[in-house]
Amino acid sequence: MANAVFDAARTVLAIREFEDRPVPDEVLHRIVEAGRLSASANNRQPWHFILVREREGLRKLGSLVRTGPYTAGAAAAVIVAYVKANGQYAVSDASRAIQSIVLTAWGDGVGSNWTGFIGLENVRREFGLPDEYDVIAVVPLGYPRRKVVGKKKRKPLAEVASAARYGTPLKV
Ligand SMILES: Cc1cc2nc3c(=O)[nH]c(=O)nc-3n(C[C@H](O)[C@H](O)[C@H](O)COP(=O)(O)O)c2cc1C
Repeated sequence: MANAVFDAARTVLAIREFEDRPVPDEVLHRIVEAGRLSASANNRQPWHFILVREREGLRKLGSLVRTGPYTAGAAAAVIVAYVKANGQYAVSDASRAIQSIVLTAWGDGVGSNWTGFIGLENVRREFGLPDEYDVIAVVPLGYPRRKVVGKKKRKPLAEVASAARYGTPLKV
């Protein structure tokens, strides 16, 4: 039986090359909404999302995030930040929001990726986020330049899952 959510989880890939074509505002709005609608511990919603669409801002992000220079060529990007005081929970909450963003984008044919993780203080300052926040990711967005479906590399299920107790083979 078809399951659109599973299909997105099954096919989504990290996209690092984008077409030179804008993503409609309606789609970008939906992508940010997906972050906002995510669940968080105690429903604290300790996050802030900055949607960057201007080429200058995208170039700046590409230069600030060492492991994501390709954001410079994306159609847009979302900076995801969380309130530091909420500690590990906030990291988990923001990560969940990022996954919602990535999957919702994919559902609209928009490729993305998680770039950066620690050491994004320069992004926080440059984009005006108050000191109480840490930036956890910059997520570039854009239509994939190449067809990439079906290339996912993952460990086999038997290696990463058990039935009932660790080490019992899972048969489903
Ligand atoms: C927490 C996290 C941090 C990541 N950081 C980067 C990054 O800084 N730069 C990058 O190009 N990819 C980054 N990635 C993408 C992973 O490298 C990628 O998802 C992984 O290699 C699997 O590839 P796939 O998603 O295409 O299957 C990150 C992914 C996660 C979940």
